[in-house]
Amino acid sequence: MPLLWRARRTTTACTVWSIGLKEAAILTLGIDVGTGGTRALVLDEQGRVVGSATEEHAPFASPQIGWAEQQPEDWWRACCVAVPKALERARVQPEDIAGVGFSGQMHGAVMLDEQGKVVRPALIWCDVRTNSQCQELTEKIGAAQLIQATCNPALANFTLTKLMWVREHEPENWKRVRSIMLPKDYVRWRMTGERAIDMADASGTLLLDVARRRWSRFMLDAAAIDERSLPALFESPDVCGKINTDGARALGLRPGTPVVAGAGDQAAGAVGMGIVAPGTVSATIGTSGVVFAATDRPALEPGGRLHTFCHAIPGRWHVMGVTQAAGLSLRWFRDQFGAGKDGDGEKKDGRDPYEHLTDEAAKVPAGCQGLLWTPYLMGERTPHLDPNARGALVGLTATHTRAHVIRAILEGVAFSLRDTFTLFDEMNVAVKRIRLGGGGARSALWRQIQADVYGHEVEIVAAEEGAAYGAAILAGVGAGMWKSVDEACSAVVRVAKTVEPQPDVVRIMNANYAAYRRVYEATKSIFAS
Ligand code: XUL
Repeated sequence: MPLLWRARRTTTACTVWSIGLKEAAILTLGIDVGTGGTRALVLDEQGRVVGSATEEHAPFASPQIGWAEQQPEDWWRACCVAVPKALERARVQPEDIAGVGFSGQMHGAVMLDEQGKVVRPALIWCDVRTNSQCQELTEKIGAAQLIQATCNPALANFTLTKLMWVREHEPENWKRVRSIMLPKDYVRWRMTGERAIDMADASGTLLLDVARRRWSRFMLDAAAIDERSLPALFESPDVCGKINTDGARALGLRPGTPVVAGAGDQAAGAVGMGIVAPGTVSATIGTSGVVFAATDRPALEPGGRLHTFCHAIPGRWHVMGVTQAAGLSLRWFRDQFGAGKDGDGEKKDGRDPYEHLTDEAAKVPAGCQGLLWTPYLMGERTPHLDPNARGALVGLTATHTRAHVIRAILEGVAFSLRDTFTLFDEMNVAVKRIRLGGGGARSALWRQIQADVYGHEVEIVAAEEGAAYGAAILAGVGAGMWKSVDEACSAVVRVAKTVEPQPDVVRIMNANYAAYRRVYEATKSIFAS
């Protein structure tokens, strides 16, 4: 920490005694409850990250194909490790934190009983066991009526279908459920005692009237869900609670620190990348992959292949396409086949295993000599809306190597994100600039592959810090550091680098994308049953 910085902060703290502690604090804390881990990040008013830490979660359990469950208690444990570490690394005092913001994996169903005990492990976003609940809802309500009520179709990822599954298959558990939350809101509840949710995350429950930004009476009645079991709704930068004594003790924060609603990880990540107005679009590769555009009103894709959700900005919405297993495809390869002879075991050289994988992939030509990967390891959302879709490696020959397979995974994930750009084009969603986020923005090879597959210049922002960064910005707006999310983004988000598409490679990628589009059609009947 530079000396100047500490000196200025000390001065601020001195002047502040007379006007109260709230004015003293000029930093915010963002907490992202992700799938792989919880990340905490301390932000200053220039948008600099002054300290951060991540604590991994236990991998999600998948006791049956298509199932994905996590223990909410593990998210809270990870938060209690990550937050104190981030505060320590930032060398700040609890009273320096002006506000706390959240982001988190979306859609997960956390169920609590009367005493606030978790009833069963949470069914998380990539759990797709609820196909029959989706069909039941669609038949009961009607596809058009569902879209009218919520702006979205019934998808296995959405929270309501998970609640219906528990009600149907585990009636004893369901009888005990008094309170329903999403993952980050469970962590918030542990530190504030408040049951709150933001509009963006609530959009992915299938219980929100997304156009009017309120719980949908129609959906609650149709699905027989008691509104009293749901958290209160807030706009993302609104203060919805304060750190309580237990939360303060567990995390090293000041009791009474204001907490804002925050946002689901995609909307928070978009704020962190400055995706706040139409025209600039993000392509983020985390565990999932998302192409995200901000809109002035709810924009509907007639087939429901894109999600139409509230943005983390009051009065704005967004539309996004989702690849279920984007980064997850590469992680799956790493976990099953290793990171290569220098990346694994005794020879491990301390570098990130993913760097080893992408170095290996960089040795083979673009287009992988015809090898194609469809990343449907957890079914697929955009554009197929098919929980039974399956991953496929198509076009193998004796010439192909491990490196080709890795590169095919990187290209296949980018093709899958391109499917959303294809839909944006059909819907006239403006794409003037594309910003990359997540692991797909950190790897030089994956950046170039994306520029070549999208056939468009891509931008990398200076603070490529993910959803926790957006959560900290939202906390800053709530704490009065900036007047609005737009003002905050103009103050702190900066493009650091651009990557141009290479015309010869774009031609190869266009041909491979056309072939990729045929793989799902050719294989879907094999997996339908
Ligand atoms: C978005 C989605 C994922 C999860 C996990 O709809 O399901 O982004 O939030 O990150």
